[in-house]
Amino acid sequence: MHRELVQISSELIKALDNAKHVVVFTGAGVSAESGVSTFRDALSGLWARFDPMQLATAEAFLADPELVWGWYEWRRQLLLGVVPNPAHLAIARLEQKLPKVTLITQNVDDLHERAGNTQALHLHGSIFAPRCFDCGRPHAFAGAPAMASEQKLEPPRCDMCDGMIRPGVVWFGESLPEHALNAAFAAAENCDCLLSVGTSGVVQPAAQIPSLASRAGATVVHINPDAVPVHRVNEYSVQGLAGEILPLLVQETQHA
Ligand code: APR
Repeated sequence: MHRELVQISSELIKALDNAKHVVVFTGAGVSAESGVSTFRDALSGLWARFDPMQLATAEAFLADPELVWGWYEWRRQLLLGVVPNPAHLAIARLEQKLPKVTLITQNVDDLHERAGNTQALHLHGSIFAPRCFDCGRPHAFAGAPAMASEQKLEPPRCDMCDGMIRPGVVWFGESLPEHALNAAFAAAENCDCLLSVGTSGVVQPAAQIPSLASRAGATVVHINPDAVPVHRVNEYSVQGLAGEILPLLVQETQHA
């Protein structure tokens, strides 16, 4: 049921041009062209060398805080060294040009903000917003230590209660931030057009977002190098790199 870009292009542009509210829903694929490995890339993905359950759960953190904190500090350092790519920049431009854009991301990086988006609902938290494991108080980073991959690092301590500082990301088994999730679901149910960019759509509850929008009647467009199965007439799969497809869409919309 995949349709070619050429065929859907005018329909998609029309949907964007006519939309009063557009949702952009992003996953790791949107940061891939900045040099940030996606989680499930079998060859080079960050998870390929590690068991996520040994790194991305509260139990794992308590069992080996130095391993988990070291892993996230290494990832944070990688992120400090990369820059937004044309996909991020195109999404920021959409926010400037369209009447209303809600950006929902599963990414824990800050590349959308650095590209110029003024608001992003971070469903899985932020690697740049650590907090105390015990009392929840936010923690300010002192700097980014020079780190090698797989290097262990002792987590800092909370100024208030001396608890261990944990990464500000949502781990497997944890609830998503309530405000962000409610706002994301409401936006999906009320938008006219949703662009789902660079996500495998396997991690719940975020994965429901495109189908919520589609069921509510919005035009839903999946942008991914892999064909994404579509189930409704108002749903499209555009196969390609986010950094190539999104700038084309922005260029074509009358708004932009
Ligand atoms: N442009 C668009 N899509 C791309 C690109 C690209 N340049 N490169 C890769 N992709 C696609 C892949 O084909 C894949 O479908 O991005 C998707 C990345 O999928 P995942 O790695 O599963 O990332 P994501 O969907 O964001 O994962 C969801 O799972 O591990 C947890 O919390 C983590 O937020 C993450 C969540």
